[in-house]
Amino acid sequence: ALVSMKQMLEKAKEEHYAVGQFNINNLEYTQAILLAAQEENSPVILGVSEGAAKYMGGFKLIVEMTKALIEEYKITVPVAIHLDHGSSFEKCVQAMYAGFTSVMIDGSHYPLEENIALTKRVVDVAHSLGISVEAELGRIAGQEDDLIVTELEKAYAIPAECELLVKETKVDCFAPALGSVHGPYKGKPQLGFDKMKEIMELTNIPLVLHGGSGIPLGDIQKAISLGTAKINVNTENQIMSTKRVREVLAEKPEMYDTRKFMGPARDAIKETVKVKMREFGSSNKA
Ligand code: G3H
Ligand code: ZN
Repeated sequence: ALVSMKQMLEKAKEEHYAVGQFNINNLEYTQAILLAAQEENSPVILGVSEGAAKYMGGFKLIVEMTKALIEEYKITVPVAIHLDHGSSFEKCVQAMYAGFTSVMIDGSHYPLEENIALTKRVVDVAHSLGISVEAELGRIAGQEDDLIVTELEKAYAIPAECELLVKETKVDCFAPALGSVHGPYKGKPQLGFDKMKEIMELTNIPLVLHGGSGIPLGDIQKAISLGTAKINVNTENQIMSTKRVREVLAEKPEMYDTRKFMGPARDAIKETVKVKMREFGSSNKA
């Protein structure tokens, strides 16, 4: 069933596991992630970046595609469709109007007061419709679609600011940038666990870990123990599915039937997602 993230994340925080946000980029991603969730009996969040939405044909198409697959596959686990890194109030409203059950407003590049004001506007609309909202503070390094943050621009979230933003905006979950990176990590991730603990104690809401690809399991478990209830993964599915396409085409260079290499790519995504769900502890928590 299509639901907001609110209840799934509160339950996850309470029971000390994290729900995965797996970004979708096309039909095969959506199929793979929904089937993985059903087989694992896990709640799931389909993350949709603005770039991915544009690529796929818009918010409305994504909602309709997801609903049709939920019906076709008889998906019974909770599913949220979430706008990832929403860049403006208008984009968030467009996603909500199209049927998204959750949105992220990413005002992390604005001064604190502006970020709070913008987030508040989104929350006012979203909550009147039963839609959940995620906000961000600090700046996550790396690249996701058109969102590029350099090493010089990256910043760790400041706990006192996080407390203020959460209190003022009443968001449902919150993403403090604490050293995680969008895309592949250069070297070992250096996550700010002390700050994470402090932010959790000050805000007491489900925390979100962006840049979930390539973080060692020990760090994932530590983040969950400190209140992380949502972990975003995109790059790892892209790497695994593309690797599978390369293998298949290297073995049979004469292949031209799209389904014969996209099918295996889809299987790779499904397997990757299932492993993540077990690592995040969300299996059998639907
Ligand atoms: O918002 C999406 C995520 O933070 C994805 O990060 O591509 O590094 O897995 P990732
Ligand atoms: Zn992100």
